[in-house]
Amino acid sequence: MRTVHVRLDATAVIGTTDRRLFGTFVEHLGRCVYGGIFEPGHPSADGRGFRRDVLALVRELTPTVVRYPGGNFVSGYNWEDGVGPVETRPRRLDLAWLSTETNLFGTNEFIDWCHAADVEPMLAVNLGTRDGDAARQMLEYCNHPAGTTLSEQRRAHGWDAPHGVRLWCLGNEMDGPWQMQAKTAEEYGRIAAETAKMMKWVDPHVELVACGSSGPNMPTFGAWEQTVLEHCFEHVEYISMHLYVNDYANDAAALLATGVLMDGFIEQVAATADGVAARRRSAKRIMLSFDEWNVWYRTRRRQEDRVKPGWPVAPDIIEEHYTMQDALAFGGMCISLLNHADRVKVACLAQLVNVIAPIMTETGGAVWRQTIFHPFAQFSRFGRGSVLRADIDSPDYTTRYYDPRGAAELWFPLTAPYLSLAAVHDKPGGTLTLFALNRHLTEALSLDAVIRTPGALTVIEAWQLCDADLHAANTKDHPDRVKPAALESVRVVREQVQATLAPASWNVVRLRVAAA
Ligand code: AHR
Repeated sequence: MRTVHVRLDATAVIGTTDRRLFGTFVEHLGRCVYGGIFEPGHPSADGRGFRRDVLALVRELTPTVVRYPGGNFVSGYNWEDGVGPVETRPRRLDLAWLSTETNLFGTNEFIDWCHAADVEPMLAVNLGTRDGDAARQMLEYCNHPAGTTLSEQRRAHGWDAPHGVRLWCLGNEMDGPWQMQAKTAEEYGRIAAETAKMMKWVDPHVELVACGSSGPNMPTFGAWEQTVLEHCFEHVEYISMHLYVNDYANDAAALLATGVLMDGFIEQVAATADGVAARRRSAKRIMLSFDEWNVWYRTRRRQEDRVKPGWPVAPDIIEEHYTMQDALAFGGMCISLLNHADRVKVACLAQLVNVIAPIMTETGGAVWRQTIFHPFAQFSRFGRGSVLRADIDSPDYTTRYYDPRGAAELWFPLTAPYLSLAAVHDKPGGTLTLFALNRHLTEALSLDAVIRTPGALTVIEAWQLCDADLHAANTKDHPDRVKPAALESVRVVREQVQATLAPASWNVVRLRVAAA
């Protein structure tokens, strides 16, 4: 068994994780809203139609912020359709997912749901079919206390207090040809800057996210971020990033290496933003909002997995069934986000329920945790604090990762260390958590970590997620086929922590750091 050496020092810190790093995403897409978080008539639904069984799992998952209402959906959305008396709300064709949108659930219901789930809302405005005027009006409706037609409308609709939504996305994936009224970087940059200006006049407390390109495999990637930020630099706080990793090539080693792809993507977008700052001689740093990330491929390529004929309401589309190997790649992405805590201040797992989601439901029936639920819950619960700079001496491997989105078929060469690790220290004298992914498919790794802390270390608990079958998945009938088990092999002697990490495993080790 190979030994991997790690050195950590409690005083060598990359950055502090922002609370918003642990977000998710709810889109009007398939059964994410209808039959997911909202299902009046379900035995567990409360008086507002919120599924309590789903809410219980959301609380266990512990997201901090939830992005809404899209996604591609937002680029054709009239926010006015989703407020006011439910009986008079229009039914509309949704051109993003070729569905019928009933508008039974809208912004106010979402805000109530956020209160019930104890999460912060992150709203997106439509910069596809609409523009800054609709955006500023939506913001006035939501956040202005009273005394104007729009704020009084909100109050008359039953929401007396302003919603106080701080975080807003200026559209979604506006470079994608699949987007309603997609734009060039010049077109979008100008509209986003003008929208941002007005939104900040309405409410100076808002924080705004400009759209980055839809992924590192887009032909627009890089140049898009630069042009958009040349327009918006003064007006926004964040640029968005989206990444869905895949196993189209049926190559588990390549899938597990995608955390490295994410690392590079983050560093390239940060460098691009800093290049724009440099040309302005500005000390301002545009932060990154990684507001869509996940593993997604089984239900992505074929038209019949993405849309159903006949303009259905809440069809069962894009319902990815996650496996053990997906949970490992997903864990690698969590580690990448933690290790860039200095720059990534918002991140949203896409999505929350049913649609490429950690939580699955049956409409009218059960709810269960997918494999990816477990690494996310641990990432969110134990990932708050200072991320330590890990010095890792691990053997690595080279692979080719296939990602066909965009004009050309792209192969990304990747070199990944077998051990990927992030270490988070919540407070002096508190808890230090190691998140460790063994990417080796057939060999265990012996972890040998030396951690310089002022006080002695003891093990609180340690967990491992692994399965001899990388394709094992959780289902309604076997909801706990893949779940964390105790990692028994952890030994601590003074500053040294040792453990055996099983082949293809995700591991979480929580250590108490005694006060000095
Ligand atoms: O999350 C699913 C879709 O993926 C979103 O609607 C879109 O923004 C992205 O392409």
